[in-house]
Amino acid sequence: MNRKHFIYSLGLGAVAPSALKGGEWLERVPKGNPKEEKFWEDLARSFPKNYQKGGKQWETNIVNLENGYFSHMPPEVFLAHVAHHNHINDATSLFMRLEQQDEIEKSRLTFAQSQNLDPDELAFTRNTTESLNAVIMGFPWKAGDEVVIGNQDYGSMVEAFEQVSKRYGVVVNVANVPLSPETDEDVVAAYLKEMTLKTRMVHITHLINLSGQILPLQKVLNAVKAFKSDVMTLVDAAHSLNHVVLKMGDLIQADAIGASLHKWTCAPIGVGMLVVKKEWISQIWPLMGDSGDPNNIRKFEHQGTRPIDSLMALRKAIEFGEKIGGAVPKWNRLVFLRKLILGSNGNGFNVKESGSYHLVCNEDRLGAICCIKHKDKTVQELQNDLMKEGIFTVGIEHKVVQGVRITPHLSTSKSDVLRLNSVLAILA
Ligand SMILES: Cc1ncc(COP(=O)(O)O)c(C=O)c1O
Repeated sequence: MNRKHFIYSLGLGAVAPSALKGGEWLERVPKGNPKEEKFWEDLARSFPKNYQKGGKQWETNIVNLENGYFSHMPPEVFLAHVAHHNHINDATSLFMRLEQQDEIEKSRLTFAQSQNLDPDELAFTRNTTESLNAVIMGFPWKAGDEVVIGNQDYGSMVEAFEQVSKRYGVVVNVANVPLSPETDEDVVAAYLKEMTLKTRMVHITHLINLSGQILPLQKVLNAVKAFKSDVMTLVDAAHSLNHVVLKMGDLIQADAIGASLHKWTCAPIGVGMLVVKKEWISQIWPLMGDSGDPNNIRKFEHQGTRPIDSLMALRKAIEFGEKIGGAVPKWNRLVFLRKLILGSNGNGFNVKESGSYHLVCNEDRLGAICCIKHKDKTVQELQNDLMKEGIFTVGIEHKVVQGVRITPHLSTSKSDVLRLNSVLAILA
């Protein structure tokens, strides 16, 4: 048996791509109990996986463990999206003039309720980048103002702050967040160390996309506000919303939050949210000119003609989230998959204890995402070796974090991650 065949034969049969033909998967919404593993395995198989049959750039039988960029809609959300799309294409301007606003408001209300948010503090955007840029670019900066960001913040946000620095003379102070902190207080201290009486904004990434580390957000927010209560706290929740068990509305010390709903919420691509607390709304200029009420959160939605079908399908994605049992069982499933990947639940190859790999951030601070480094291989080599064995991941070459990031999702089955675990054993 050659090595490749050996790897592919480890349980892949259960997700054989040929099992999903044509539109069959649309009918495969599981009906079981979210407390049982079978439910999650059925759910994983219900997602469309035609990519496993190969494409121009990849071979067949790919296991996609790069679900951090954006992820599948489950079948029922996809169907709803298509139905809304059809309706809008039929009704065209009738929809735009007579129905559009009601549909947006329905989605606003549904999403706000699902996250304990005030609908009058919630705007829809295309993604986290747009949400956070609205606040970063629209803040009333003065020369000499200071902002604190993290050393592992997302590149686009760092660029946004660099731009306001050049444009307005804002000083950007960078907190050295530990890669794998021993205590929450180490993280809090990293932010506080960079604060001064001139600090006007602190930008915190809740779940660091590079390593998977979940920051003790609530503690950081409390400490920042205790130090200087008029500072604006801006949270990048791109990866944490509907992944970590925390409702955005419960973050009472967060003045503004941006997130992408095409990541862990399973909404269509191009749906994001921006939350701005009432007392801050009038102070932030919208990215697109708006001469209406400066206190109305809808000023951030002055986006022109756009795909409302995606916003409508968001309601189905929220319904889907409730149907699978809500935040806790989903979190448990994601953690279960990550543990299987790393072999830390007692089954399979134990990645951490092997001596061949280094885990960038301690497991007790991770959700679904983890990032590993091989002791003898470059990041690129490990990523390429995994891809040769049919496992798609992403190599992270960042000045603070280097490793291969592995991201399962609800569309990932147990056999997918066991296959990766076996490949890691061979590559060790
Ligand atoms: C931490 C973080 N912030 C922001 C973003 C940007 O998300 P989007 O491309 O949906 O705007 C990402 C994307 O992966 C991210 O990981």
